[in-house]
Amino acid sequence: MAIDEVILLSSTLGVLFTTLVLFGVLVAVCIPSCTAQFSTSDYENIQVALNLEYLEAEYFLWAAYGYGLDKLAPHLPEGGPEPIGVQKANLNILANDIIAQFGLQEIGHLTILQKELGSYYFPRVQLNLSAANWANIIDEAFGEKLHPPFNPYTNTLNFLISAYAIPYVGLTGYVGTIPLLQRVGAKSLVAGLLGVEAGQDAIIRAALYQYKDDLVPPYKFTVAQFTDFISSLRNGLSHAFVDEGLEVPKAQGADGLVTGNILSADTNSLSFARTAEEVLETVYFTGNAAIPGGFFPEGASGTIAKGYLNP
Ligand SMILES: *[C@@H]1O[C@H](CO)[C@@H](O)[C@H](O)[C@H]1NC(C)=O
Repeated sequence: MAIDEVILLSSTLGVLFTTLVLFGVLVAVCIPSCTAQFSTSDYENIQVALNLEYLEAEYFLWAAYGYGLDKLAPHLPEGGPEPIGVQKANLNILANDIIAQFGLQEIGHLTILQKELGSYYFPRVQLNLSAANWANIIDEAFGEKLHPPFNPYTNTLNFLISAYAIPYVGLTGYVGTIPLLQRVGAKSLVAGLLGVEAGQDAIIRAALYQYKDDLVPPYKFTVAQFTDFISSLRNGLSHAFVDEGLEVPKAQGADGLVTGNILSADTNSLSFARTAEEVLETVYFTGNAAIPGGFFPEGASGTIAKGYLNP
């Protein structure tokens, strides 16, 4: 072997050795953080949704069963305060069956969130689901005081109208969250949550759609008008166009050709997205993520929500 060949070989080995050492260092630094299923920001983004999952769980379980997480899954609220004003709704047999399933689905969602979020999971937040709170929201949507005050617990139609206001915000929030997620565990979890949330919203909308031209007794407004006014209110609170009722101007309908609007979606029939801030300002019904109210009288929990409440 000539001397220059020896030098070449030894420098090649040197490069190989250095590469191996660097790779080893990278692997050591990377494990476990690079293989983790969630990044810190993934946890924080998913925390926003946890607030809504608590809201849905309590609202649906109570409506169908007359009791909620404290009885059906007492390990999930982790000592968070009991919801205010929530009650059994006077539902027909089919609606009670469907809403019970929705509530139990939310127990599944909370169970996987408790497992996957670990120390980022937080106890149930204070919820206000009183009929009076709902009446305020509906009055605000119509810009006038309804007589008698709207009460979601009175009958199936009223409850479905109120339910129209709930999974949809979660759906748009999940659509907004997915592009921000970094790790595969977070993406697959939120994709799974989104699918069921979208399904719940579609079922509620389809149930209401059959009655869209009927008046909601004893008021002079139709079912479609209730949904349109609720969606307009929420667009205003979100400072964005992300919400459509059951009837829209033709230009907003599917392919710009129809006024019937069984699903809320953009010009290309893609789901609208809400940012975390837009979700919070909507469910607070204050239009401001720094001012709690509505369903969350003390605000939502988690890093992002608390960041807006205590900047
Ligand atoms: C719940 O909301 C209603 C209507 O906004 C309000 O009158 C009531 O005081 C709230 N309850 C609590 C304990 O915050």
